[in-house]
Amino acid sequence: MQEVNLGIIGSGTVGGGVLKAIQKNGALMCSRLGIRLKVLKVAVKNMKKVRAVPVPSALLCQSWEEVVRDPRVHVIVEAVGGTTTARSIVLSALNAGKAVVTANKALISAHGEELFAAVQRHGVNLYYEASVGGGIPIIKVLREGLVGNRISRIYGIVNGTCNYILTRMKLEGSNFDEVLKDAQRLGYAEAEPSLDIDGDDAMHKTGILASLAHGFWVKPKSIYLEGIRSITGLDIQFANQLGYTIKLLGIVKTQEASPASARGRKRFSPVQVSVTPTLIPNSHVLASVNHVFNAIFVRGDIVGDTLYYGRGAGQDATASAVLSDLADAALDLKTGNINRIPPFVPHEGDGAVLDIDDVVSRYYVRLSVVDKPGTLARIATILGQSKIGISSVIQPEGHEGESVPLILMIHDAPHSEMNKAFARIGRLSVVKAPPKMIRVETFDS
Ligand code: HSE
Repeated sequence: MQEVNLGIIGSGTVGGGVLKAIQKNGALMCSRLGIRLKVLKVAVKNMKKVRAVPVPSALLCQSWEEVVRDPRVHVIVEAVGGTTTARSIVLSALNAGKAVVTANKALISAHGEELFAAVQRHGVNLYYEASVGGGIPIIKVLREGLVGNRISRIYGIVNGTCNYILTRMKLEGSNFDEVLKDAQRLGYAEAEPSLDIDGDDAMHKTGILASLAHGFWVKPKSIYLEGIRSITGLDIQFANQLGYTIKLLGIVKTQEASPASARGRKRFSPVQVSVTPTLIPNSHVLASVNHVFNAIFVRGDIVGDTLYYGRGAGQDATASAVLSDLADAALDLKTGNINRIPPFVPHEGDGAVLDIDDVVSRYYVRLSVVDKPGTLARIATILGQSKIGISSVIQPEGHEGESVPLILMIHDAPHSEMNKAFARIGRLSVVKAPPKMIRVETFDS
């Protein structure tokens, strides 16, 4: 029986989960693959630490360099997180001719192009299924399952922590901070939870999906991002009364293709790539993706609409995706077919991300206003001057005092016009707090 030797660097949530999963299902994988996955070394920061997943002392070492240098190790699992040491580990391992498996979306998002170039140079491979969607094999879907499709839409609920928080705020009326603590305790949140709640984690993942779908590397800086910190129980409640659920949604949306150029070469219109809290109609399947679950909706021109659902965070979900990569790495080593599926293949040419100012969407807007005649007229005048249409206005009953909530539902409007108009509205004396604007996605085009 062929053996593939693994060196795991890091034994926290990801590394520990991989070790546990191999202990549990290694024999099953062996019978399925005809290859035994053998963990040879586990590098940790602190050898004395008591770990949730115990590491046999014979495997432990303190230096990642030792693991990368060991000639017996075929595949490195990078499980340290972050982008600095992780980048050095991956580059050194590729340089040493070893295959690398990583769950590190921040690393792939920020340094993907550099790492893919190193893969090419060294004739090895880099696998990152666990970087997006936890246990959902979405990278495989885009690179293999849907390879024959042009992708026009991706809608992703791709951060388990945010989805867990928003779900419990909606279903239980729970408080943001309390629920975040639970998400940390359950191993969903990043070591630095602001990466989750401010949306960076979802941005990294959405960028990776957009890159795979559209064939140019989407840099994190080009993705428009809003996190969930400013979403209040009041917005969740009002949205629900209007028939919507608020989710942190990654959107990758193509615009209409521009006409072919004179030389007959197809030109590609910019792609919207954004991550924002979004109102989703309760009747849409994504609205019922709750708790730590992720879901990714992908529309291909041949297949039509498809949906992928599963646990998006947590030790076991991530470990499942890493095992899938280990299987691919082991099979590639066995067959000597290292580049059957390279980590990223640029295709289609001159893609670009659409400037957020030009992105058009519907909006929910919550204003805090003085309840007196003429207030609505003043707001409507500014919106009319900006050619922004109101689809409905609600002043919910039961709010009294200095100021009351006023909810506006806005027809399709460009981001830039919305910002300008609501900056003006925010300065009106009858408006008592900065307007809260949340996008609405109705999925109808
Ligand atoms: N913190 C991430 C999440 C973990 O909550 O989705 C998986 O990437």
